[in-house]
Amino acid sequence: MQVNIPLKQIVDNSYDITIDAMPKMHFHKKVAIVTNPKVAGLHLAYLLSKISAKELYIITVPDGEEYKNQASIDTILESLFNHRFNRSSLLIAFGGGVIGDMTGYAASIYERGIDFIQIPTTLLSQVDASVGGKTGMNNRYGKNLIGAFHQPQAVYIDPIFLETLPKREFAAGVAEIVKMAVTFNKDFFEFLEHADLNDKIVLQEAIKQAVETKAGVVAKDEKERGLRAALNYGHTFGHVIESQTQYKRYLHGEAVAIGMVMANKTAVAMGLMDEDEAQRVEKLLQKYSLPTDYVIEDVEAFYETFYLDKKSLDASVTFIIPHHLGGVKITDAVDKHLILDVLKTFKAS
Ligand SMILES: NC(=O)c1ccc[n+]([C@@H]2O[C@H](COP(=O)([O-])OP(=O)(O)OC[C@H]3O[C@@H](n4cnc5c(N)ncnc54)[C@H](O)[C@@H]3O)[C@@H](O)[C@H]2O)c1
Ligand SMILES: [Zn+2]
Repeated sequence: MQVNIPLKQIVDNSYDITIDAMPKMHFHKKVAIVTNPKVAGLHLAYLLSKISAKELYIITVPDGEEYKNQASIDTILESLFNHRFNRSSLLIAFGGGVIGDMTGYAASIYERGIDFIQIPTTLLSQVDASVGGKTGMNNRYGKNLIGAFHQPQAVYIDPIFLETLPKREFAAGVAEIVKMAVTFNKDFFEFLEHADLNDKIVLQEAIKQAVETKAGVVAKDEKERGLRAALNYGHTFGHVIESQTQYKRYLHGEAVAIGMVMANKTAVAMGLMDEDEAQRVEKLLQKYSLPTDYVIEDVEAFYETFYLDKKSLDASVTFIIPHHLGGVKITDAVDKHLILDVLKTFKAS
């Protein structure tokens, strides 16, 4: 016997991403803004001059990647239950990628899913984390291992928030911008080579192009069954660097910058990229003082760490190798010796 549940459905999860000063908005519903003390101290007054609601609550969780965990999710959910939020209520993520990922995840599970809006305040979250609906948290097994795909209703990218962002955090966001240009858009890459992202108008244009690039990829492969994995360019190597340095020495974007240089060297060794192209990427990263070098003490140990990454639980490692500028190859068939030879060039001389 067999019972069929006909659930074939066409879902329209489309949403708009506004890159501009925030509009004034009033919501005729319960709204909770989720943020942390740092972002609240710097920018909550501005946000509250833009947003009002029938009932408005502020939920704060501690600042930092180490608090991207179940305890913070519980803090958010508790507050929603206490204030009797229901399925038509709304969450607003107000902060960097940590806040964005956790708010989205809380929204995805509260009463099986409520709406949320992203208001990202770091460059990294404006160009990457806030777009595409990946939400989640960390646990003791690793980063982002728990989560859901839950698209926001809207994203508001207001460049004003970046004025208080520390230089290193800004550069970390630039690394993710470079990632999108190298893998998907040669014209964008050339624009970046000639651009000064410290100029506000130029930066706004770069944010727009990065978001368009990511949106295009997400539209083709929302659940990362293929193409979306290309956004992990620089990350396979970067995650090893982050893990070897206990997530302390480098910001994520900085580790990704080094990782992109490693991926590029792999591409050159595979004949997929010219040496000159690899140099151009490195130069662009260095323009924003991003690190591009790293000393690998033990190349075998570095290689083994690839297998500890969650995306390699099936014992194969996926490499994202640029194909010249603006193209990308996703492959788990890279010869180990070729990788080891690349890694050896990062040895102390
Ligand atoms: N969902 C996705 O697709 C996706 C993509 C990339 C990254 N991420 C996640 O994003 C997180 C990293 O995001 P992040 O780099 O924004 O880190 P973050 O959220 O930790 O923010 C970095 C620091 O900057 C502070 N900050 C935020 N806005 C500020 C402002 N305007 N001025 C001054 N300080 C400010 C934060 O409080 C924090 O201390 C990671 O957890 C990562 O897993 C998710
Ligand atoms: Zn990243």
